[in-house]
This record gives sequence, C-alpha cells and structure tokens, in this order.
Amino acid sequence: MSVLAIDAGTTGVTAVVVTPEGGIAAKGYEEFRQHFPRPGWVEHAPEEIWQATLSAVRSAVDQVDASELRAVGITNQRETVLLWDRETLGSPRRAIVWQDRRTADICARLRDEGHEDRVRELTGLRLDPYFSGTKLVWLAENEPRTWALVEEGRYAVGTVDSYLIARMTRGLHHVTDVSNACRTLLFDLTTGDWSDELCSLFGVPRDALPELVPNWGEVATTDPRTFLDLELPIAGIAGDQQSALFGQTCFDPGDAKCTYGTGSFILTNTGTTLERSDAGLLSTAAWRGPDGELTYALEGAIFVTGAAVQWLRDGLQIVGSAAETAAIASTVDDSDGVVFVPALTGMGAPHWDPHARGLIIGLTRGTTRAHVVRATLEAIAFEVRDVLATMPNGDAPLRVDGGASANDLLCQLQADQLGLEVRRPELVETTALGAAFLAGLGTGVWDSTDELRETWQLDRAFTPTADRSAADAAHGRWLDAVERAKGWA
Ligand code: G3P
Repeated sequence: MSVLAIDAGTTGVTAVVVTPEGGIAAKGYEEFRQHFPRPGWVEHAPEEIWQATLSAVRSAVDQVDASELRAVGITNQRETVLLWDRETLGSPRRAIVWQDRRTADICARLRDEGHEDRVRELTGLRLDPYFSGTKLVWLAENEPRTWALVEEGRYAVGTVDSYLIARMTRGLHHVTDVSNACRTLLFDLTTGDWSDELCSLFGVPRDALPELVPNWGEVATTDPRTFLDLELPIAGIAGDQQSALFGQTCFDPGDAKCTYGTGSFILTNTGTTLERSDAGLLSTAAWRGPDGELTYALEGAIFVTGAAVQWLRDGLQIVGSAAETAAIASTVDDSDGVVFVPALTGMGAPHWDPHARGLIIGLTRGTTRAHVVRATLEAIAFEVRDVLATMPNGDAPLRVDGGASANDLLCQLQADQLGLEVRRPELVETTALGAAFLAGLGTGVWDSTDELRETWQLDRAFTPTADRSAADAAHGRWLDAVERAKGWA
C-alpha cells in the first residue's frame, strides 16, 4: 500500500505517491499565480490553490494504481490565512500570504501598546507581519463587511491545510494541527490549545478557527465527488517545515534540518521541552501524536532564498531557470565583491526587520550576471550561517533538503560558510515525504518512527574547504551590507 502526499507550497503544489520503502513512485506539480496588488503585499487566490492541487494530484495518481493508495497526507505553506464560506466553500477574498508585509504598522501599534512580551511568552513568536494574527486584524479593520460574516459564523478562518481539507471533504471538516496553529499568534504553546486571551487581543472569534487534531491518525475521509473519485482517509497533517523535519527523520532532540524552498527554514527538534531564544529564533510546535504528547522545535525562518532565484528569473530575467544558476555562477571564481541582500519581503531570522528591503552593492563596470547569480547563491549560504550561529547544537552536520539542495554549488558554499559538513539525502522532496510518513504512520503503512529512520539514505556529503579565511571575509562584507539594507522602507 502506498501513500499520497500533497505539499501545497508558496508557489506551487506538489503531489507524490510514496511507497512503503520510502521511495517516490509518482509525482505531479502545478504552479499557481502570485498576486502582488501593492508593494509589499502578496496574495493567493484560494480557488487557484485548489485547482493546482487537483491538477498535481491528478497527474501523480494517473501514474499509479489508485486502488493501492492507503491514505493521504497534507503539508502546506504556513501562516497564510484564508476565509471561506462554510456552505459554498467559495472565498470572499484572496488569501493573505505569509510573505505579505502590510501589517508592519499594526505590529508596531501592538508593540507600542505593550503586548510584545506577553505575545512572545504565550506563542513563542514575535509581533511580525509574517504571522497570521495581524493579517486577520487587518481584514477586520479594512474589510468590515467581510469580517462581519466571520463573526456571524458564516465564514471559516484557516490556514491552507484547513482550506484544502474543507474542499476535499465538501465542507464536512474544519480542522488543523498544532504545527499550523502555532504560527497564527492565536495558539498557546504551553497548553497546546487556542488561547482565549490571544483571540481577544487579535479580535478573532474562537468559533471561526479550526478544531485541533493530532498530526497523524485518521481525521476525515475525502469525498470522491469533489476529490477526483478518490475516497481516502486524511491521516497526516503538518505545516511544511515541521513536515520536512519529520521527513528528515529528525525525531530526537538536537536533530536539525534546513529546507531550501521559497524561503529557507532551519528547525531543531527540542523534544518535549519548550526552549526559548533571545537571538531571533522562534519557538514552535513540531508535532503532536494521537497520545497527546507535544514535541517542540526551535526555528530560524529566512523569508527569501529560492524566491531570490525566482526573482532573477522572473523579475530581472537574467536566468532562464533555477536549475541553470549553478552553471552560470560557476563561470566565475567568486562574486568579485558583489553582495546581494535579498530582503525582498523584509528580513526574518535572525535580523527581523519588516522595513528592510533588497540591496545589491559592490557593482562595477566589470560586473556580469554571473557575479550577481553567484552573489544570490552566496546570500542563501550567508543567511543560513547567520541562523545556525544562533542555534543550540549548531555545530553538528546539517541535513539539507528542498529544491535548491539539488544545487551542488550552493551545498558547497553552504559547507564552506558553516565550516561544517552538509548532508543531502537521496530524496530532497522531504516536505512531501514527511506528510506521507505522517499519514502512513496514522494508517499502519509504517509502525514506528524507527522503521521510518531506516528509509533515510545519504546522496552526498559536502565537506568544507580547509581555509576559512576567504569564507569569513566574504561573510564580513555580507554583514556590512545587511546593516545597509535595514530600515529602508
Ligand atoms: O513559513 C512559511 C513556509 O511555511 C513556506 O514554505 O516551502 O512554501 O517556502 P515554502
């Protein structure tokens, strides 16, 4: 029996069929549109996410015998908030995406009113536009007619996982899991439940929020009338970064991974201990099993890494695809003093500045696109180095995954910057794999996490070059440029 996993990411939806051996038997992918109605705003149309999901699932399932599927697992971009009509499942407006910076002023206001410490204590997060809570405040203040229907109970509020489950079950279920809930600013990390105090602070009716369910175990069944004739138990749910932590089999305290996606996210499992950081890391829920035990993680969230490569492709149009960046960047030995700070949607960990903006500095008449492309890959490696420097246990070999981990040059630059070994598994679709593992664990395809651990296979280990001085000098220039990018907007 195999497991279907859906990874509804920021720029597209991936669907994979995972075999009991932990291999990928089939894959489908569909990109969806990004809407940028104003500078700093990022939105997605819920219907477009749903259609992309159907299309990705269709193309994966068409490659296999659908009667062999045992369950479906869902993982998703986190923090992005959506509203939908509980009856019609239509959405009254587009989703406000995690990258959207429109609530910087609302965050500042709440900070001025003295709420930051309490919010941090309860949620493990910070007052930053990244998280869902202030996006909902913005909706209430700017679109009161829509918000009134939330308060009346007609519109449901949720993250992408909840929305997809509502669509897959024709509105029968409104659920989410702790890894998504804990990114909303409405969830109490210690009690493991929605917080009345936070719902009241952000003005969100608790009844509009989804019910919390365990990360694995059967929670609902897909309706074949709406979900491509498939009637499958939904048995695994997790936000994409926690799902990748699970997919990398980081089950023990101290285990860490870095996923290179639209952004890059470094998570370290901290077991049943809720650890806090003063250095810009977030405390977050990793997962909660059917027995109710909550596992926590520390997270360094970097907003723009793969998105910077996408910007080279779509914005500057100096590369044709992400895949060719390694070859282009390898035509030069270094970036020749060019530094790119890709603060295209502000800056996350460890700097946290919603007003930072992107900057390219060090240009000369001799600068070519190869230098800019190389500076982009270097920026990703610098950003991850800055986060790892604040992580406990940040000197262990780093497990990497996600699309850009296929880029050998990036992995080498990363190892050189960290001065640590970087380990890439054979399967870098780790986010989807994690959702499959959760759903398979919830339906008996796998019996234990020990069994899952057996499936992890090393593809390649990248060892750092012995001489750290060049890496450190480049990193010093980077830190200088980061200071210049802050506070620009
Ligand atoms: O917190 C945002 C994160 O969940 C988005 O992940 O993979 O879509 O960049 P990704």
